[in-house]
Amino acid sequence: MGVRRRLAAVIPLAVAEIVATVSAHARGTGSPDAETVYIVTARQTYDAAGLLAREATAWKDSLGRELVIAQLDPLQIGALSRHVHEREQRCGGFFAFASRPEAEAFIVRDRTAEAIALPLGGLYTIDNQATVGPWLAQVSEANIHATITTLSAFRNRYYASPYGRQAAEWIRDSWQALAAERDDATVELFQGCSNCSTQPSVILTVRGAELPDEVVVLGGHLDSITSAFSVPVPDLEQPAPGADDDASGIATLTEIIRISLASGWKPRRTVKFMGYAAEEVGLRGSAAIANRFRDDGINVIGVLQLDMTNYRQNVGRDLRIVSDFSNTALTTYFAELFDAYLVPLGGVRSALACNYGCSDHASWTSAGFPAGMVFEAGRPQNPNNPWDLGAFQSIHSTADTLANMGNSASNSVRFAQFGLAFAGELGKTYDGAEDAIFSDDFEVVVD
Ligand code: BES
Ligand code: ZN
Repeated sequence: MGVRRRLAAVIPLAVAEIVATVSAHARGTGSPDAETVYIVTARQTYDAAGLLAREATAWKDSLGRELVIAQLDPLQIGALSRHVHEREQRCGGFFAFASRPEAEAFIVRDRTAEAIALPLGGLYTIDNQATVGPWLAQVSEANIHATITTLSAFRNRYYASPYGRQAAEWIRDSWQALAAERDDATVELFQGCSNCSTQPSVILTVRGAELPDEVVVLGGHLDSITSAFSVPVPDLEQPAPGADDDASGIATLTEIIRISLASGWKPRRTVKFMGYAAEEVGLRGSAAIANRFRDDGINVIGVLQLDMTNYRQNVGRDLRIVSDFSNTALTTYFAELFDAYLVPLGGVRSALACNYGCSDHASWTSAGFPAGMVFEAGRPQNPNNPWDLGAFQSIHSTADTLANMGNSASNSVRFAQFGLAFAGELGKTYDGAEDAIFSDDFEVVVD
């Protein structure tokens, strides 16, 4: 109690944020009784949080930013976290590991600097209106609404609870049904995450008809959390509806899958749709997948992250393109796609810096792949709080419900349209060239 009061009094906002998230990582190893957790965090954060850390060592990341690896006591952090989260309403970034060598390997392997600068602009073209155009009017608010309703009705989607696994299996089944008629599409559970407890990620793959080795990824996280889970041994029965964060992203992906597959679209490139496990406890599911793809030498040419698409006050914008922890050419492409397809529908875009690796795109970036994220319109930011990202204020609480978003999914419609443009333009469309060549030959023979 004494520690809690003291920190509440002196801890700066930025540190409070980080500490809140650290607790999620700390308890998230699947072994709540773990003695210590090793975090990688910004030097600035560590300096303020020094009260908590032991055996800290200084590092620099690939961008030259000063980092610290520090050993923390999950019990201490866990007790602090709930208080901070409730008081400060903030989120924060850090990476957590079970051992110091793992934390060190993460920094040494990190490829964020290269991934941000990958010069892929030449790949990012817009010339597939024939496919994308007809898709846009098909986006159904009712479908997105229904999926958010189903997902947020799971008691929670916490990565270590049985409900968290059941929700992943429900997404698998629902995507399977949408791909049932397609012999070029498969749906699988990705189980290769060693610290995701029992929660798998879900991957739907549409095999590219011409360039199957070039891979386009659209994803969002399927887990949910509330600050009430930020205790050493959480009660796995607690509600965590996560309607905006991030049932909205999964529902948006589901609508993109429905429309694109039902249209008979055959992409030239391989397109993968992903529901990531265990994002809320430190981007774990996406990190496992991105690192596996890196180790396997998979050529991922673009990743779109959809995390929180549905909350919007009257802010004069519909969507914000996240500018940091993202590939620069890809974020430029996002803006071009928006201008080509959403502006004619009345859409307005702006930009947002999270100032930390706020979602799964950061896992792909850290693994060296070009990734980016689009984020909800939200509400006006508090000018006195640089950490306020103008997001839905009820995330990570039991109030993250559709009812508290006007019982409407209409704001996610633009994100589904944006995702359809991204999939159609980066995946392109197989135009039956082989058939055409065959017909030409045939006609020559006939002549
Ligand atoms: N959806 C949030 C990220 C977010 C929240 C972005 C508000 C912008 C505004 C995401 O699910 C999340 O909570 N991420 C964690 C960080 C992660 C490394 C555990 C967070 O922000 O605390
Ligand atoms: Zn989220």
